[in-house]
Amino acid sequence: MRKNIVAGNWKMNNDLKATKKLVKQIRKSIKKSELENTRVIVAPTFVNLATAVKRSKKSKLEVAAQNMHQASNGAFTGEISADMLKDIGVKIVILGHSERRAYFGETDALLAEKVDAALANKLEIIFCFGEELADRKAGNEEAVVESQIKNALFHLGADAFKNIVLAYEPVWAIGTGETASPEQAQDMHAFIRKTLADKYGNEVADSVSILYGGSVKPANAKEIFSKADVDGGLIGGAALNAKDFFAIVDAF
Ligand code: PGA
Repeated sequence: MRKNIVAGNWKMNNDLKATKKLVKQIRKSIKKSELENTRVIVAPTFVNLATAVKRSKKSKLEVAAQNMHQASNGAFTGEISADMLKDIGVKIVILGHSERRAYFGETDALLAEKVDAALANKLEIIFCFGEELADRKAGNEEAVVESQIKNALFHLGADAFKNIVLAYEPVWAIGTGETASPEQAQDMHAFIRKTLADKYGNEVADSVSILYGGSVKPANAKEIFSKADVDGGLIGGAALNAKDFFAIVDAF
């Protein structure tokens, strides 16, 4: 059975002190709530990953990186490889976030390379994609999402999807306070699952967790997560506050 997942993408927030504090608070909440089928993940900045990994040991809290470079090493000033992440105990990486695509020029082709590098290093991937407002207004949201998934992932064999979580994040809902309605999320998630099923079969499609991201908050999480094809959320702003983040986890 696929797992529910709540992942906090901290983006370029939280210094060392704040990282330690938030990890501690989340660990405590996890311990209290005896989660069974729900994974809780946080993605701090690169410089605080090692600390977060150390401080989440012996807890169910998992730690993800927000990005990585596709090469294993070399003259790539400012970059971090999959090897380096593994070396400090990181097992998950977020790839394809819309901010990476928009501000750092990440294309589907580049993401396909990053996906291969992550999988070759046995890192689990949270793969993000989603349409912009103009796409949705033009009724092109499914075509855009389909091409993002196909271009970056459909060269993979079915087995690879054991290590891939999908995160549908409509760009118009990220950090804007505007959320896709639960119905809009469900429609898109069902479409994504069908796209996977058409290529890889129902068994693979049913086993992949598909997260929704974009202004998820304690007040709307329960309704969004109640939809059949929504298996959790990738949370930005509300993940910076332990109480809000855990209220979202508790929505399950
Ligand atoms: P948000 O961000 O929850 O602040 O909208 C979500 C994301 O970017 O993953």
